[in-house]
Amino acid sequence: MAPKIFITGGTGYIGGTVLDTIVKKHPEYEITALLRSEPEDFAKTYPNVKVVRGDYDSADVLSEAASKADVVVHNGNSDHVPSIKALIDGSLKSDKPTFLLHLSGTGLIADWRDPSWVGKLNPKTWSDVDDIREITTRPDGELHRHVDKIILAAAQQHGEKLKTAIICPPDIYGPGRGLKNKHTVYFPVFLKEIEKIGRPFYGNEGENVRSWVHIEDLMKVYRGLVESAVAGGEGADWGVDGYYFAATQSHSQRFLAERVAAILGTTATSISSEEIDKTMAAFGVPHLGTYMFGANSRSKADRAGKNFGYEASAPGLWEVLEEEVRAAARLERISFQGHTF
Ligand SMILES: NC(=O)c1ccc[n+]([C@@H]2O[C@H](COP(=O)([O-])OP(=O)(O)OC[C@H]3O[C@@H](n4cnc5c(N)ncnc54)[C@H](OP(=O)(O)O)[C@@H]3O)[C@@H](O)[C@H]2O)c1
Repeated sequence: MAPKIFITGGTGYIGGTVLDTIVKKHPEYEITALLRSEPEDFAKTYPNVKVVRGDYDSADVLSEAASKADVVVHNGNSDHVPSIKALIDGSLKSDKPTFLLHLSGTGLIADWRDPSWVGKLNPKTWSDVDDIREITTRPDGELHRHVDKIILAAAQQHGEKLKTAIICPPDIYGPGRGLKNKHTVYFPVFLKEIEKIGRPFYGNEGENVRSWVHIEDLMKVYRGLVESAVAGGEGADWGVDGYYFAATQSHSQRFLAERVAAILGTTATSISSEEIDKTMAAFGVPHLGTYMFGANSRSKADRAGKNFGYEASAPGLWEVLEEEVRAAARLERISFQGHTF
């Protein structure tokens, strides 16, 4: 019987690329996608993907679809509690073990809550193997922790029936394949803030470092996990050890701001911790600007390396930065010094 995969967020930047990857690599799988509104070209692009209608608050729809799946791949919102609860409930209704892959993010290990790090290099690089116990016991209030906690608790309680993996990408770049969104979040929001401030910016000395991954490299982690799940879990870690970073490189905010400035034909500028904290205020999430531009978030994808031989093969950030900046400027209709992209 064909393995049954249920995927959410399949029109977005990450989830859309995951859906496209699985469909193309494994036409033999039986894939069902949750859609809250169907893109015009969905049925034509994915004629063999079944659609269930609903959103992340449609608990019954999610639960039923999960109960019929061998592998659930949940993307689209790393912070939504009712959807993960419904997917866990549904997975546990199945009479065989279900694999549940959840998209989280390395906001979890960022040092944004301590403003003394803004623009300073934090020497800690987190390993998803060596630091696994610290990662899975992060304090409440860290980004994404409230949902990770639900998954880890369910994995501990139902380990034989529910095999979980939390995929935790750093900042992502590169064109996605989602039918509705092909853009990562970082460059559009950075350009919008640059437009307000007038120049690409960093906090204080700008020495804070964040990790990055190309979306196509990230797909190798998803493929490794989905293929392992289909094979009964062989060759991967699940449950309380099933935590996967995906970083392939790390860069300081100052270097990034200077490179973006060169593309825009200007120079980068230092701003204070207070000013950086005021960026991204429109999102209504306290200290989001500090997290995005002032904090350190450095990770190593040791577990994917150990299990899948994971290493970078897509272009590095600097190789594609100009196209990334131009694409974000076009998306946001931003022009600099009269120059449109
Ligand atoms: N991009 C990054 O660099 C990055 C890195 C690490 C972690 N993350 C996290 O990954 C998550 C997804 O990011 P993304 O960039 O892929 O987002 P995205 O492009 O906005 O995609 C979101 C997807 O989820 C679907 N969705 C959202 N809310 C929904 C709801 N209530 N019901 C049903 N479907 C819903 C969207 O469907 P529609 O098409 O119908 O809107 C879309 O398919 C976010 O939580 C983000 O914090 C992102």
